[in-house]
Amino acid sequence: MRTHKCGELNKQQLGTTVTINGWVHRRRDHGGVIFIDLRDRAGLVQVVVDPDVADAFATAEHVRSEYVLSITGLVRNRPAGTVNPNMVSGEIEILAKQIEVLNESETPPFPVESEIEVNEELRLRYRYIDLRRVAMQEKMKVRRDVTRVLRNFLDDNEFFEIETPYLTKATPEGARDYIVPSRTHENAFFALPQSPQLYKQILMVAGMDRYYQVVRCFRDEDLRADRQPEFTQLDIETSFMDEDEIMTIMEEMIRQLFAKVINVELDAEFPRMSYQEAVSKYGIDRPDLRIPLELVDIAEDMKSVDFKVFSAPANDPKGRVVALRVPNGGEKLSRKDIEDLTKYVSIYGAKGLAYIKVNDLAAGIDGLQSPIVKFAPAEVWSSVLAKTNAQNGDLIFFGADKAGIVNEAMGALRVKLGHDLNLLEGEWKPVWVVDFPMFDWDEKTGRYNAIHHPFTAPSCSAEELVANPGIALSRAYDLVLNGTEVGGGSIRINRTAMQSTVFEILGIGEEEAREKFGFLLDALKYGAPPHGGLAFGLDRLVMLMTGSTSIRDVIAFPKTQSAACPLVSAPAVVTDEQLKELGIRLIKPAGKEK
Ligand code: AMO
Ligand code: AMP
Repeated sequence: MRTHKCGELNKQQLGTTVTINGWVHRRRDHGGVIFIDLRDRAGLVQVVVDPDVADAFATAEHVRSEYVLSITGLVRNRPAGTVNPNMVSGEIEILAKQIEVLNESETPPFPVESEIEVNEELRLRYRYIDLRRVAMQEKMKVRRDVTRVLRNFLDDNEFFEIETPYLTKATPEGARDYIVPSRTHENAFFALPQSPQLYKQILMVAGMDRYYQVVRCFRDEDLRADRQPEFTQLDIETSFMDEDEIMTIMEEMIRQLFAKVINVELDAEFPRMSYQEAVSKYGIDRPDLRIPLELVDIAEDMKSVDFKVFSAPANDPKGRVVALRVPNGGEKLSRKDIEDLTKYVSIYGAKGLAYIKVNDLAAGIDGLQSPIVKFAPAEVWSSVLAKTNAQNGDLIFFGADKAGIVNEAMGALRVKLGHDLNLLEGEWKPVWVVDFPMFDWDEKTGRYNAIHHPFTAPSCSAEELVANPGIALSRAYDLVLNGTEVGGGSIRINRTAMQSTVFEILGIGEEEAREKFGFLLDALKYGAPPHGGLAFGLDRLVMLMTGSTSIRDVIAFPKTQSAACPLVSAPAVVTDEQLKELGIRLIKPAGKEK
């Protein structure tokens, strides 16, 4: 139907007759001459329709935005002064000889222009219009490039791409399951996988050595900008590789990915940081290392001050007191800014945000400006100033509370200040976070939870694990890029006894373990090799690589914040017959729901 794509035409075709197909991006009537910008996936080209080509002109007179046209015409130079250096086809135009309308279009619900802000619900309802926008086409192209480069790398490194089932049994990754009723097995349900974790481990027991899959995962959890109920992982598992070997090969893959797709050279070696260090310096296990600010512990200094807000958490083993120095913050942040930041940290449960303005270090305590200076003697402040390495003009913020609240609030404050004050250093800061604890204690349920998942190997023996589950470390690793967790994995447990021990610590009794994971416990008995792997959040990688603010922008058909698809109106009610066949009765029958 066509000889060329619109956006790829250039001076090489000068003087030739070409046929192009595409959508009317814009039509301008210049009294006597009609200009049509025709658009396809490759981009735009300008078409000129002269009145002396009567048929074509008559057609051009009634075409409107988003009509689909086939145009045959002569490629010629644009007149001097009308060259557009921003377009591949910017030096040429097509003089139309023939125009055929392949299809008409109603006026689109919003213009196909990347720059125009459109309500997201509307964009998702008319996603086919939204995806026509150049910015979205570019994101889809990067996504295509990303999967291609990753697949090539893994194929070159002898990984097998193997598919695992979607209709399966619950795989715990910390979210709720999406469940699917089975018609053929009364009262039984499949679960959609939260990840292919157990299948990939079983593939290692099956001797597949190296596996990968670009795979959809399903998690019914609270949604955020970087979380979708169904999302794509690049899922990987290997046998006979330890964590160093796995991290090394994965680093190489990510470096190639960035170099080939967006022409970015990442560090030759990604730094590694313990979970402990990450939380202590940044308040979070996915630190954004582009931001040069750090939390500094000052509990030691605050134990006996006359200010309960600081002294109480300083003396509480579960408390934390930190200082966060903002270089030149004294000038950069007004009183009003500090008030706004105080409100901001309150979202994370902080009860206040104390601060000190460092006006003049040489003047001692008189050089400090703050409502809290009076609560502690000069030696305390000089110790704090030394620990934070404060300079004249700096502002120091303080957080004091239970460690969890301080970490969240001050960690978020650090990130906010980094962005608001333009403090970001460097464009790409990957870091491996390692030495995670095995478990955390859930106050509500009075149980341990697995920090990674229950199949992760501990760094210690079973005896040590049982003796001290709260302090045991795991052989897990996360890859964090600019403050986003883009991937995570671990060396797995490959012996039945250790797996049973971990289930026990998690409060999963023998019977429950058999019922839920008996197949895994069985598989581990038949020569399960040492194995480990990880999974990358593909959507998150593409989000970062395209500079998008949400993963919804790099998924062709994402769900809304309330986990619905406005395009097809899913989820939807099903017929009574379907329910009957499945043996399901609704508590609130259709039509009676809120
Ligand atoms: P994990 O649960 O850490 O590990 O998931 C791996 C990566 O997947 C991405 N991710 C998500 N992306 C979008 N929306 C979501 N709701 C979402 N949840 C997770 C993150 C995350 O780093 N089976 C293990 C991997 C392993 O141990 O090999 C797993 O699924 O980028
Ligand atoms: P107050 O004595 O309650 O007026 O608090 C004095 C200063 O300490 C104010 O600047 C408060 O914002 C700050 N503040 C109060 N509670 C905390 C807290 N938990 N952590 C840090 N600063 C706090």
